[in-house]
Order: sequence, then C-alpha cells, then structure tokens
Amino acid sequence: MIQHFLPHHKFGKTIPNRKLQIGVRDSKTIFTDLLQCLLHRHAKILLQEDDTIMETFKTMTCRKSVRSYKSTLSDANLQKILMAAQAAPIGMGKYDTMHMTVIRNTELLQELDRNAAEFFGDPSRTPLYNAPCLVVISTPIANPAMANVPYSNAAMMAEHMCLLATDLGIGSCNIWGAIAALNTKPELVAKLGLPEGHVPCCAVTLGDTDDTFAEREIPADRIAVSYIN
Ligand SMILES: Cc1cc2nc3c(=O)[nH]c(=O)nc-3n(C[C@H](O)[C@H](O)[C@H](O)COP(=O)(O)O)c2cc1C
Repeated sequence: MIQHFLPHHKFGKTIPNRKLQIGVRDSKTIFTDLLQCLLHRHAKILLQEDDTIMETFKTMTCRKSVRSYKSTLSDANLQKILMAAQAAPIGMGKYDTMHMTVIRNTELLQELDRNAAEFFGDPSRTPLYNAPCLVVISTPIANPAMANVPYSNAAMMAEHMCLLATDLGIGSCNIWGAIAALNTKPELVAKLGLPEGHVPCCAVTLGDTDDTFAEREIPADRIAVSYIN
C-alpha cells in the first residue's frame, strides 16, 4: 500500500544485493550467513532475506530527524501523513482517547517555539525549526500508574507519521522537549483548544525540506539486547 507513495528517487542507493538463501538452507549456508551478520554487525544483512521487509526497513533507515524546513507542506501530503497516525496501534483500541491538533498558524507556531527556547534557556534556539506544521498529540493522563499506555500511544502515532513522511520525502521530527515546555504554560495549552482533560504528550514537525533521505547504516548492536531463553 505504502509503495504507492514511494518516491524512490529520494532514496540513496542500496548496497549490492547479498540475499540470504530462502527455503531449505544447509548448515554451511546458515553458518556463512551468521558469520556475515557477525562480521558486518549490520542489520540490513539480517533483513535482506525478504524484499517486502527490505522496503519497510529501507524506510526506517532513511527516516531521520529533519531540523531544516521550507515554509511549505501540501494538504494532500499532510492528509496522507495524518492517515498514517490513524493506522497506529492504540492500547485496547481506545482510539477515541487520542487527539491530533494540526497547527499551521504561523503566529501560534512562533509562540510555541519562543516558549520552548525560553524553557531551554536559550532564546536564540528554534526548537520547532521553523517547520510550517506541527501535529500535537494529546490524550488524558488519568491514571499515573498506567501513564505508559497513553504516552506510548502518542509515540506510536508520532513514529507512524515520521515513517510515512519519509516515504513521501517530507521532513519530520519527533518533538517532546517543546511539548514539555508547553505543559508548563496552561495559558498556552489553552490556545490549542484541546478536548476536555487532554494533556499534550508529544508532537511531530512536518514540512518540505531540502534534506534528502539516504539509507543509513544501523549497527545491529546499537541498542543493547539481552536474551532470556
Ligand atoms: C521520544 C523522543 C523525543 C524526542 N524529542 C526531540 C525533541 O524534542 N527535539 C528534537 O529536535 N528531536 C527530538 N527527538 C529526536 C531524537 O533526538 C532523534 O531521534 C535521535 O537523535 C536520533 O536521530 P534520528 O532521528 O535522526 O535517527 C526525539 C526523539 C524521540 C524518540
């Protein structure tokens, strides 16, 4: 489905195809594959077995935090990106607990940006990177003991948007710091007109960019993993 939106010219070159053998593999092949994985410590090798996985993984490795934006974002692309958030998994399927506020009003964007810069103690910073659009994700945080669920819901929606934005060649960045700053100013939160009881959790900046989206090498051990068998 997503392939429909893939602007392949935006992506960098793939490394030469080192497909692992599909189907029955003898022990020598498996050993060679494993050795390759170990030598290269490179997740791409692990996933190159399947072209479908590769498309998904390619998007993931091309995604990056974009912090330089043009002033534009088409309505059509915005709608596609919002649709990606709609497809996100939400704890117990409680979709009606989540809300997105799409801010394209330059004055409000600048106010949020200035507030965050002050919060970080450096008025010269632009924590929203002059992006033309900010999607704020909010939800009630009713039970602090279960707050991991609503915050995670918001994160799932945010990352879905970032991934689809990448496929479209559009810049995106997860924004949590400026939202922490926003939450210190109830009068500023009020300007978002959120549903009753909603707390801003995070946001995503979106916009056209001159940045390009080349595949990045992801070390397979970048994040520690332990196994309990
Ligand atoms: C939970 C979370 C919060 C983040 N908050 C911010 C933020 O407030 N501002 C920002 O510029 N980037 C933010 N980022 C982006 C990270 O800094 C970035 O993902 C990380 O440095 C890796 O770079 P990459 O996204 O280009 O792969 C956040 C990312 C995550 C996952």
